[in-house]
Amino acid sequence: MIDPDGLVESARQAFAAAADPAELERVKARFLGKAGVVTEALKSLANLPLEERKRAGAAINRAKAQIETLLEEAREALARCRLEAQLAAQALDVTLPGRNGSIGGLHPVTRTLERVEALFRSMGFASVDGPEIETDWHNFSALNTPADHPARSMHDTFYLQGRDDVVLRTHTSPVQIRAMLAHTARHRDAASMPDLRVIVPGRVYRVDSDATHSPMFHQLEGLWVGKDVAFAHLKGVIASFLCAFFETEALAVRFRPSFFPFTEPSAEIDVRFTSGALEGRWLEIAGCGMVHPQVLRNGGFDPESVRGFAFGMGLDRLTMLRYGINDLRLFFESDLRFLAQFR
Ligand code: PHE
Repeated sequence: MIDPDGLVESARQAFAAAADPAELERVKARFLGKAGVVTEALKSLANLPLEERKRAGAAINRAKAQIETLLEEAREALARCRLEAQLAAQALDVTLPGRNGSIGGLHPVTRTLERVEALFRSMGFASVDGPEIETDWHNFSALNTPADHPARSMHDTFYLQGRDDVVLRTHTSPVQIRAMLAHTARHRDAASMPDLRVIVPGRVYRVDSDATHSPMFHQLEGLWVGKDVAFAHLKGVIASFLCAFFETEALAVRFRPSFFPFTEPSAEIDVRFTSGALEGRWLEIAGCGMVHPQVLRNGGFDPESVRGFAFGMGLDRLTMLRYGINDLRLFFESDLRFLAQFR
């Protein structure tokens, strides 16, 4: 005769030993299946006398119910185990720093541009714009640059196929002409005409490419035309701008005689830092001069009654000096390791 308590106990142990749900179901079949121990025990009662059969039958049925309860518990225990293992495996370390959506930043040249615009605005200069595909007339002829000037050669200028009247502008100076024409058209009465004071930041193009030259780069043009404008104003504006831009008084500015077809006299502007990281040699940062009378005339002014100065600076160059960058190409390669440093 089967011992019902022993049966329950062996089921308890067998269930506890099952390592996963599949094994548990196999163990279950051994006890509760059609050919399982419990079924066999019930069958074996058939030959017992009635009273004994009732008693033994009831005992086996109680054992069966207990085994079913144990099975349910074992199933739940396995499910809980599996969940815990899963949670442990996918554990979330809430103390780790978050992965922030990366917020972009301004390009270093754009930073320079905004800074330069703010500084010149404080000196009364408005910022104006012009086309990057420029007419040959604005880019060259109106700026006194004759057809045989080397700046016009194929080695220097991007021409457009099938068109000989337009080029990719080689400098921001053509906007001098556009700004003057717009100004003289708006203020027809020479006596009451206000001074024209503009800067022109923008992209320019030349057939040139190495560590310090890029086929596309940025310039900053400056132009001030008025009745009493003198070279002294040019020197004052440039010197105050440079001190403000580099946040130092420890710099010397030098105007070195030079030549541009559209200014007379003309000069290159050199700067030398007298202390700090950039201390040392003279660095060329701009071309400048007094606007040539013919250029004033091309802009609609009477060169007998106004004078003006103009300058053209490299915005990329200013940026390189300010941040200590030694390769111009870094600005245009879109390398995030470089750009992220300016966020
Ligand atoms: N446009 C000149 C250049 O690109 C710079 C310049 C601007 C010189 C204005 C004089 C006056 O080299």
